[in-house]
Amino acid sequence: MSSGTDILLEVEHLWKIYGPHERNIDLTKPFSLEEAIAKGAVAAVCDISFKVAQGEVFVIMGLSGSGKSTLIRCLLRLIEPTAGKIRVGGEEVTSMDEHQLNRFRRTRVAMVFQHYGLLPHRTVLENVAFGLKLRGVGREERESAAREAIRQVGLEGWETRYPAALSGGMQQRVGIARALVQNPELLLMDEPFSGLDPLIRREMQDELLRLQKELRKTIVFVTHDLNEALRMGDRMAVMQQGTFVQVGRPQEIIMHPANDYVRRFVQDERRFMLMSGTADKRVEKLAHTAGRKFIAG
Ligand SMILES: Nc1ncnc2c1ncn2[C@@H]1O[C@H](COP(=O)(O)OP(=O)(O)OP(=O)(O)O)[C@@H](O)[C@H]1O
Ligand SMILES: [Mg+2]
Repeated sequence: MSSGTDILLEVEHLWKIYGPHERNIDLTKPFSLEEAIAKGAVAAVCDISFKVAQGEVFVIMGLSGSGKSTLIRCLLRLIEPTAGKIRVGGEEVTSMDEHQLNRFRRTRVAMVFQHYGLLPHRTVLENVAFGLKLRGVGREERESAAREAIRQVGLEGWETRYPAALSGGMQQRVGIARALVQNPELLLMDEPFSGLDPLIRREMQDELLRLQKELRKTIVFVTHDLNEALRMGDRMAVMQQGTFVQVGRPQEIIMHPANDYVRRFVQDERRFMLMSGTADKRVEKLAHTAGRKFIAG
């Protein structure tokens, strides 16, 4: 990690074990964990540590069941970690009481899910403003902030419509506006574009990259799509069975996959690059590297 970079998110030795006795497992003793697993516990996140710099887009990629959703949900304790530490901007999330955690979720972090989860009987404007309403922000102020977020995601003119009148892509724009209106430092996105047609998906990726140029949020972005990971990520982590098997810049991972699992993931991309002799150019284009911030993997 280069010195002088501001770290926003710090995760240390994070574990999530699903199972009836997850709290009683002594993680310092491999035997204890093996025993729990033999009894049916699932180790979904195993001793993961990483840091994300301010303004960085950190992508987590991996096959279905590798633990991506569990990990990203642990970051705001929608899923309670079994062990480990999470810090956001120096605040220790893992030691917050319920009140502190609620305030943290309302002010510093926002999450966008694959399934938009919009409120069907509220308009686009109300959906976007809803979080601010919960925060006790007055009507005029929250509506003006919501209008601005709606403009940012390109939905101006749709404020008074209901979610059912919107296409999937537009509904996810509302999902993103709903997150942006909170002005979070940390934006967590779990397969936000996976439900969309390829063309719309591509459009949404471009849109998010455009927004990111302007807003410079710190983003943790989960996907199982390599192309999306390459386009969106400043750095990416490849996840396999609850662990990060490789973390680095997309081009490093493509050129030097750490094991067979990663190699299989990146194979086609790598073949294309070597064949066309355009490795650097293509990765550059894919990753939109111009002017973006990197930390050495
Ligand atoms: N509530 C739960 N109880 C028990 N096991 C769970 C629970 N949620 C997830 N798991 C298990 O934890 C592992 C990781 O699941 P997770 O949903 O985090 O993976 P994922 O990488 O997000 O997969 P996908 O790409 O399908 O969304 C899987 O083995 C899953 O079966
Ligand atoms: Mg998932």
